Amino acid sequence: MTALVRFLRGATLLGQTPCDPAATLLEHAERAGLSLAYNCTSGTCGSCMVTLLIGEVEVPDVLPPGLDDVLVDDGARLACIQCPKGDVDVDVRPPL
Ligand code: FES
Repeated sequence: MTALVRFLRGATLLGQTPCDPAATLLEHAERAGLSLAYNCTSGTCGSCMVTLLIGEVEVPDVLPPGLDDVLVDDGARLACIQCPKGDVDVDVRPPL
């Protein structure tokens, strides 16, 4: 069964696409027909921040400027640089 990356806002499913572990969450969103906010595409500005709800999204050993440990613990991921691993549900909003 193909793993899916699903994008939600609250309980509303906005779109989904097959998981490609070599593609970023931002690329997955585009494949799902969504336009997520982004700016630098390098992990610096934080404007592409989403919230991981279910599943695994790689976290680099050295966090980029747009993330810190507290945000990561709250589920924050940067869609422009981070890639999903298997089935993943993401809220398109940053952690509250
Ligand atoms: S677009 Fe700036 S951190 Fe992702």
